[in-house]
Amino acid sequence: MTLQIDTLPQLKQLLAEQRQQRRTIGLVPTMGNLHAGHASLVLAAKAQCDFVVTTIFVNPLQFGPNEDFARYPRTLAADKVALSEAGCDAVFTPAASDLYPAGLEQQTRISVPHLSTLYCGKTRPGHFDGVCTIVCKLFNMSQPDVAYFGLKDFQQFFIISRMVEDLQMPLRLVGLPTIREATGLAMSSRNGFLNAEQHGQATAIHATLQQVAEHIRGGERDFQQLEQLALAKLQAAGLRPDYFHVVDRQSLLPAHGQSHQLVLLTAAYAGTTRLIDNVTVDSPVPA
Ligand code: PAF
Repeated sequence: MTLQIDTLPQLKQLLAEQRQQRRTIGLVPTMGNLHAGHASLVLAAKAQCDFVVTTIFVNPLQFGPNEDFARYPRTLAADKVALSEAGCDAVFTPAASDLYPAGLEQQTRISVPHLSTLYCGKTRPGHFDGVCTIVCKLFNMSQPDVAYFGLKDFQQFFIISRMVEDLQMPLRLVGLPTIREATGLAMSSRNGFLNAEQHGQATAIHATLQQVAEHIRGGERDFQQLEQLALAKLQAAGLRPDYFHVVDRQSLLPAHGQSHQLVLLTAAYAGTTRLIDNVTVDSPVPA
């Protein structure tokens, strides 16, 4: 059974007890509506740490005014069952009023410059500041040894890693591979918004990523042309692409002449639902 705690003093006491017993703490920050991707994080945390805490908090600070904060799925009862099955020790379900007692406007924010304004950050200004701020708060509250994130949100993981490095936060981060449906569609809490037709359209996202990755593995290096090709494919599948970029995996900046370790990042709308995905690919280095 996963123990539910919803106040900060309870969390602090529980984790202090664990630390006293020299038990390592693994943290899995989530916004709930848990799926197999989240379960894989909990299972990895459980395999590597003595005590695992999952946090469930739909963070208003990372949603823009016209985004899906209000309709974001909140499914605590089912989430608790999934966490128990995955062997999670505790779930922390704080209230917004406890995390942001002075309100969102007055909240001190953490901002990783430039990287937070690219790709998803361009369409969602302020989004990564909201993510970094809540993640930093959750780290400070729980002081984990290790924190686990899914690599479906590749840009998010890169930015959190930069924050941890820049601010010398004393923990280790683990990024784990995207879990996919049989169709290739990346597991996401937002998949539940898709009707059957949109679900079919959305499978083109991973298919397109794979096709572009194949071109790159075959030696193609005209990244702009590949991006245009990908956007056209997404559109032809009935999606409304937001962006498709070939990105240098070391810097997260657009790939350039010397870039060989790459990640393809994309976001596209199926109906009104915005989905993101990525694949990593290495471009062959000429002999
Ligand atoms: O990836 C998510 O679910 C969220 O962005 C996170 C990291 C839990 C912060 O709210």
